[in-house]
Parts: sequence; structure tokens; C-alpha cells
Amino acid sequence: PKLTKFVDSLPIPETLKPIKKNKNGAYYEVTMEEFRQKLHRDLPPTRLWGYNGQFPGPTFEVHQNEPIQVKWINNLPQRHLLPVDQSIFHEHGGNLPEVRTVTHLHGSETTSDSDGYPEAWFTNGFEEVGPFFKRKVYEYPNHQRAAALWYHDHAMGITRLNVYAGLAGMYIIRDRKEQSFSLPAGKYEIPLIIQDRSFQNDGSLFYPSQPNNPPENLPNPSITPFFLGDKIVVNGKVWPFLEVEPRKYRLRILNASNTRAYQLYLDSEQPFYQIGTDGGLLSKTIEIEKISIEPAERIDVIIDFSKYRGETITLKNDLGPNADPEDETDDIMQFRVRLPLSEDDRHRIPKHLASIPSLKGNKITAIRTLKLNGTTDEWGRPLLLLNNKRWIDPVTELPLLGTTEIWSLMNITNFTHPIHIHLIQFQILDRRPFDLNLYQSNGQIVYTGEAKPPEPNERGWKDTVAAHSAEITRVIIRFAPYTGDYVWHCHILEHEDYEMMRPFTVIESDK
Ligand code: C2O
Ligand code: CU
Repeated sequence: PKLTKFVDSLPIPETLKPIKKNKNGAYYEVTMEEFRQKLHRDLPPTRLWGYNGQFPGPTFEVHQNEPIQVKWINNLPQRHLLPVDQSIFHEHGGNLPEVRTVTHLHGSETTSDSDGYPEAWFTNGFEEVGPFFKRKVYEYPNHQRAAALWYHDHAMGITRLNVYAGLAGMYIIRDRKEQSFSLPAGKYEIPLIIQDRSFQNDGSLFYPSQPNNPPENLPNPSITPFFLGDKIVVNGKVWPFLEVEPRKYRLRILNASNTRAYQLYLDSEQPFYQIGTDGGLLSKTIEIEKISIEPAERIDVIIDFSKYRGETITLKNDLGPNADPEDETDDIMQFRVRLPLSEDDRHRIPKHLASIPSLKGNKITAIRTLKLNGTTDEWGRPLLLLNNKRWIDPVTELPLLGTTEIWSLMNITNFTHPIHIHLIQFQILDRRPFDLNLYQSNGQIVYTGEAKPPEPNERGWKDTVAAHSAEITRVIIRFAPYTGDYVWHCHILEHEDYEMMRPFTVIESDK
């Protein structure tokens, strides 16, 4: 259906309250359930899955060095509300239960058994569990610096469907350093969880059960190589608006879309002041007009509305010069500067922020060249792989605890993949273009330019990096503070669900 833009006001997800506090910290229970929620004025309520009956899920607010425990409870129906492809990952486990869940706290430094390993899934009532299931109550140490993390489902082979159904929310860590800056806070700090969705006329979510023009022999349902929705949903409303005061606001923006990347800008031609990345504050504030944000990336920005009293400003998505004029995803949401200034704006935009010690001086224990490559499966569907390996192949990345490695992500496919590595925050070293056609014809790497340093707004801690086609993207990683089984993968959920994910194991060094 066609939907009018900017008719619903932006919801702010509520902050989660612990059930109790004990010697191990605050204890929470979060239940995944099915419910209906109105996502637009003119749309009947949509059947969704969410945490504690909310879409997006409630926000965790925690403080550095205050560990918490969370019991993730699956109270979902036995049947999925979206089409499940039974042909993927059929080689292990055979008949997996259709509805399985496991929650991952994206960007967190967490022990392996609380990390939400894809095969640590469980069903309603923990009746069935995956081979890596270890515990019902997860522990999050929160030792890391202040940052906006997010939690979302990570179950093997159906993450795209579980997240699309609504299983995602924000997790904000605070620390003293950040609090010393007097950044806009309270009602002047707003989380924006951006997702694309498509709907049927009855309000239900639309997710394709097969790719367009499927060959006859294709499994039905079948996974699609990507998904792009035609509506933009922010904090659970389609194209919402927010009334703001003429003052500074801090926006914690998360791209929680399955496949879609955004090029964010403001139609008032004013800049964003970007202060943070995935892993928290940058070393200095960056004035920036357009920000690219891939799936799973977060940006922390300040917008100054003080000179825009009475005006309406649209947060836009630049679709580029070849955009289809019918495509409405160039709009994200609207800010209406019409609330009176309730008190003087004493918040600052600091110039200098946190210190970010470079990992470049560390001794490098391993340099791994890892290809992002594509092939086809037995039905002729595109199959994207990491270093030409499948999920079931033996673990090939076994970094030693406490050591530093360089991973060279060599993208020999024709599009960008946002690559995410669990357990750690890394730094981007550089990106170097090479001749992809030549590589494809004779396997030779011939660089076509110099290595480019990361963009100014990427020079902080990152857990997800855009690895562009025909480039080698190098990241530097210190593997700590835990040993154990983790994963790294493309965060395009349609890729992650179909083999573009690999295990890695951090091992104790024997010295
Ligand atoms: Cu946000 Cu492994 O995922
Ligand atoms: Cu990908």
C-alpha cells in the first residue's frame, strides 16, 4: 500500500528495568513473543515478533564495569510468521525446528557461552536446543567503553527472518569519560533504529518467499540474495516525525536493516557533528554532511537545530543519480523545530573527545588474507562465501588470546559487504583498490591505486566495516579478553544466513 509520510510521531523505545539486583549485578528477563502493533496511521496493526512485546525491543541502559545478567526467553509460536527456507544448512542437524532463537549482543566483549553463537539456539520453553547451547542466562560484563551496541536474534539460518519479524533493540553503555562532556542527554538524546520494511494491504509484513522470476526447480520457500523494503521504519513507525526544540540533539543511529545501506543527510544542508562510531566516541568531532551507514553500523551524531526555529527538516537517504523516481526510500524521517526552548542549551559540541590508542604499534602475530567470494549452489542460486569456505568446514581462524592480527578482506564480488567480527572492536587500517577483472581472469592482484586511509568518521573503534567490491580492506584486531568460539560474517542478513559466516576460535597461547 501507499502510505503518507510523516504522520506518526517517532516512538522512543522504553528503557528496560531489571527484575532484581544481586551480587552478580542486575538481573533482567526478556521474553520474545508475538503481538500486533500499529506501524503507521493508515495501516492495520502488524503481526510482529519482539522482545517484551515491543518493536523495536526496549533499550538497555548500563554503566561501564557493572555486569548484568539476562535470561532470554522464547515464548514464540511453533510456526514462523515468515517463509522459512528448509533447504539451507540442511546438511547439519537435519530437521531444525522452524522457530529457534538466540540473542547476540552486537559489539560486546562477552564470553563465548553468552555471545549468542548461531548454533546455541533454543525453542519455546527451551524444549529443544542447538548443539552449542550452554546456558539460559547470559552474562554481559560491560567492561568496555561507552558505546551504543544492539541486541538482535542470531539463530542459524533464520536470522534474517527473526530480525525482520522484529527481534532487535538497542543497548547503551555509559561511562565517566563520556559523561564529562555534557553531551545532549535525557530527552535530547534520541535513539534512531532505522529499518526498511514492506507491507501487505492487511498490514502484515511482506517478505519474499522466493527471488523474482525463480527457476521452476527452486525450493519454495527459497532464500533471496538480498532484501530491500519499500518503506522506511524508524523506531517502529513508518516515516515518522519528531518535534524538537531549537537546540542540540544527540542521535544514536543504528542501521538495523537486513540488506539496505543508507547515505544520510539533512535537507536543510546543515552538517551532522559525528562524535562516535560502533565502539564509542571518536578522538575528535567530525563535521560531515553525508554519512554512509551499512547494516549493523552505528553512528553517534549531534544535530544543532538552534538556528532552525519553526522549520521542518527531513533526514534523507541519498539514492544517487540513477534512482528510480518511484522509490520512496529517499526519505527517512522529519524533524519539526516547533517546541519552545524549555531551558537554555548548555550542551557543547566538544572538539576533542576520547583517546583512541592505535593498534598499529602492536606486534602483529598473523596477517590473514580472507576473500569475500561468490559461487552458486546446486539450484543455481548465488552463494556468497568467506574465503571459499562453508559454515561446516573446520575452523581456520584461530587467533591466540591477547595477540594482534591484520585481516585483509579481499572483496572479489561486485558489491559491498559489511563485515562484522564478534568479541572485539577493531580499527580500520586502509582500503586498496585492485583490478577485479584481471583477478577474475588470471588470479593476479594488480593494484589500481594507493591504499586509502579510512574515512575521518571511521577512525574510531569499529565492529563492522564496509568492504567494498574490488578493494582489499585491512583491519587490525587484538583478540581479547576471552578465549572460545565466536563468529565473523557479512551483516547483510540474507548473506549471513546462507553461508557468508564463519566460526573463529580464540585460543590460549601455550607460553
Ligand atoms: Cu549483529 Cu553476528 O551480528
Ligand atoms: Cu554480504
